[in-house]
Amino acid sequence: MSKARKILVTAALPYANGPIHLGHLVEYIQTDIWVRFQNLRGNRCIYICADDTHGTAIMKSARQRGCTEEQFVAMMHDAHRRDFAGFDVEFDNYGSTNSPENREYCEEIWRALQDKGLIAQRQVVELFDSQTGETLPDRFVKGTCPNPRCGATDQYGDNCDRCGSTYSAIDLIDPISTISGTPPVKGESEHFFVNIEALHEFLDEWTQSGEHLQDEVANYLKSHFLEAPLRDWDVSRPAPYFGFEIPGTHGRHYWYVWFDAPIGYMGSTREWCKRRGEDSDEWWRGESTEIHHFIGKDIQYFHCLFWPAMLRVAGFNLPDKVHIHGFLTVNGRKMSKRDGTFVMAATYLKHLDPAALRYYYAAKLGPRLDDIDMNLDEFVAKVNADIVGKVVNLASRTAKFVESTGLSPVYPDDGGLFAQAASVADEIAAAYESCDYNRAVRLVLEMADRANPYVENAAPWSLKKDPGRAKELQDVCTVALNLFRQIAVYLSPVLPRLAKQTEELLGQPIRHWDEVQTPLVGTPVAPFRHMMQRIDKKDVQAMIEESRESALGAESPKPQPLQDSDEALKAEPLAPTCTIDDFTKVDLRIARVVSAEHVPDAEKLLKLVLSLGGEERRTVFAGIKKAYQPEQLVGRMVVMAANLAPRKMKFGLSEGMVLASGPGGAEVFLLGADSGAKPGQRVH
Ligand code: MSP
Ligand code: ZN
Repeated sequence: MSKARKILVTAALPYANGPIHLGHLVEYIQTDIWVRFQNLRGNRCIYICADDTHGTAIMKSARQRGCTEEQFVAMMHDAHRRDFAGFDVEFDNYGSTNSPENREYCEEIWRALQDKGLIAQRQVVELFDSQTGETLPDRFVKGTCPNPRCGATDQYGDNCDRCGSTYSAIDLIDPISTISGTPPVKGESEHFFVNIEALHEFLDEWTQSGEHLQDEVANYLKSHFLEAPLRDWDVSRPAPYFGFEIPGTHGRHYWYVWFDAPIGYMGSTREWCKRRGEDSDEWWRGESTEIHHFIGKDIQYFHCLFWPAMLRVAGFNLPDKVHIHGFLTVNGRKMSKRDGTFVMAATYLKHLDPAALRYYYAAKLGPRLDDIDMNLDEFVAKVNADIVGKVVNLASRTAKFVESTGLSPVYPDDGGLFAQAASVADEIAAAYESCDYNRAVRLVLEMADRANPYVENAAPWSLKKDPGRAKELQDVCTVALNLFRQIAVYLSPVLPRLAKQTEELLGQPIRHWDEVQTPLVGTPVAPFRHMMQRIDKKDVQAMIEESRESALGAESPKPQPLQDSDEALKAEPLAPTCTIDDFTKVDLRIARVVSAEHVPDAEKLLKLVLSLGGEERRTVFAGIKKAYQPEQLVGRMVVMAANLAPRKMKFGLSEGMVLASGPGGAEVFLLGADSGAKPGQRVH
């Protein structure tokens, strides 16, 4: 037997500025399957990930919610972890790029870049909003991609969706500020650059060696980037910026989010190692470890050029492989909020079984970069036909007949079925190893296609009626359950819950790939408990409908006109003067929204549970349903009138009011507090 491999696996770090959706899950499930497969093979494989927390998008989102960036990313961290757990995506560590460990590694790599003379400082012409005078971060500018081979319109100022090239906003053709909708004006500020061209030769070799990248990726990098000199990479952003300050710049310069994001793989490894008393350099500098990154095709430029270059300069291990997948489409089209196909992980989980998605993605994923289309009719048909109809069926139709006797003491003659299924082990393993899950699943389903006719011919339900054929019945069920178990082992990276249920049914753990080689005999069989339900099309439809609705409220707010208007004051003139005593009678407090939910049958109300610090909780029914989605509110600071007499409503007791402005309906604007305010503090 070959030696166990020591493998560090990462999936891309999801941005902390939005929830996990079905598109993301292609990657996190793909990676989770690979990690589970490696561990099942007896390798030591860890799955490292983290939230990508820095940059202007996060600043914008936090500002919109009236909380600090730290509060915002903490809330998203919890939500992401919950979503992943719901799909049985099990990380060894799920960290954050905003961690001390990540900062340490950033500083180490930065020092190495400086020591090798690869950092340059120069003035950059930057864009400012012509109306407000604010500097415009890349994400606040849109225009036409400057890559002469591309020219896609409506692209952000940092990189192009269509061709993947990166540039700075200043290079965009016909730029427009997204703040005011006007063309930006130019000004100067200082930036730091990495001289990537100095590593051109190394990158030629590394990308073209045929060992680390899929062929199509290597070819793309060569023809799009490596045939010309590589442009210096702008890795700094001027303050204000949510990120790590560049050492020695007195708060004036921060690392651009894409500098510290991949380093986050190392930071998160170090978080894990610290907990276990291990040294993370064992993984990133040690000789006997492998590093595998899983990413989507939109971010290959960062992972296949900048990232290896940085690792190389700082003397860290290079990735053994970067596995790149395509994008999810639904019913042949880009995921769309309007069509209800932009489905959040949490929404899916309300309606459907996570195992169904894991299986379907596995059946669709191949080793190439093609997009993956989730056809919803096919999804229903495939899960029902394959898993419920062909796999679970093997156990559900036979287990009950051997519940009292257990399996036969000697494995019966099965015409070679078990041996045949065992002999495909290497082929299936090779398919998993090369990320060709589609092939792995097909090979396993072929086994089910041979096992099912065996059960039908042997008809245990008829044997059961003849007491003289009890031995035969036990033998038939022993064969069927062993064939079922082989399938459960082979599919266990994809369907860990089914594997668990199989362990419970047959009383034997599934720990190793080689368990497909030896049949179980003479062991007890537990009562059969239902394993996986058929998918009902209606549930899929309900999920799409819910996604359609929630898309309405989730649209990003349009930029506001800059002039104040006095219409509001005209519509509602000021109330008569009151004394300070009148004012202080109302006890206004800062409160944190702990939970928010729809109230069935109430058109306008959301039910909020507010924290006033410590254990103090208040339930409030607020007429803000048309303006806010419950999930937008959780974690946010609001202002509440805390000493109002409780009011009995149809839906329950309301213990206060949250303060908001606006005429009502969709036009309601909750009051927040600047960062630093704490729940329970009085508002004077
Ligand atoms: N934060 C960066 C990654 C930094 S890695 C050092 C990022 N985040 S992301 O949230 O936008 O995407 C995370 C991963 O999910 C990426 O690999 C991306 O390709 C993948 N996907 C996002 N949407 C996807 C689909 N619709 N389909 C398939 N994968 C998708 O990029
Ligand atoms: Zn482009």
